[in-house]
Amino acid sequence: MGRQLHSLSSVATSLGLLLAIFLLFHCAQSENKLYPTANQNLSPIEAWRSAEYCLQNISSSCPVNYTLTHSGWLNVTHTDGPTFCEDGGCAEHTRAVLLCLYHVKIDYYFANFATIKDLSDTINNGCTSPQGTL
Ligand SMILES: *[C@@H]1O[C@H](CO)[C@@H](O)[C@H](O)[C@H]1NC(C)=O
Ligand SMILES: *[C@@H]1O[C@H](CO)[C@@H](O)[C@H](O)[C@H]1NC(C)=O
Ligand SMILES: *[C@@H]1O[C@H](CO)[C@@H](O)[C@H](O)[C@H]1NC(C)=O
Repeated sequence: MGRQLHSLSSVATSLGLLLAIFLLFHCAQSENKLYPTANQNLSPIEAWRSAEYCLQNISSSCPVNYTLTHSGWLNVTHTDGPTFCEDGGCAEHTRAVLLCLYHVKIDYYFANFATIKDLSDTINNGCTSPQGTL
């Protein structure tokens, strides 16, 4: 009897484990990593994770030193401004990444507590000033 109970509970444990694996797998499957904006009705954790996927959108128009990261710091110097702002340049790509962030987590903030709007404003102001500098 004791033995039967024991094996029953281990079957239950394995079933629970299988279910957990299935759910994990299922969630991972239904989450779109390439197009995070396709993810709908996100829980807070999923929203943060989708935001990370947005930040993984890198472009050849953004040299590593300008690429927007979780830090929220755009390391663009005065002399680099014009290159950064030009059509098809890194500013354009960065705006696309910010838009992606906005869609998946409207209240996203960076490690330096800058918001999506702060970054957009920085880019817009920097790129519309006469010298086109940030
Ligand atoms: C960033 O990288 C670009 C391209 O590699 C380069 O032209 C620019 O001087 C770099 N800026 C800084 C601040 O290192
Ligand atoms: C900005 O870029 C310059 C040149 O690439 C580098 O020396 C500096 O450490 C960078 N600053 C930050 C905060 O990433
Ligand atoms: C990635 O960035 C490009 C612009 O460089 C943009 O056209 C594209 O929509 C972005 N992808 C996602 C998933 O946001």
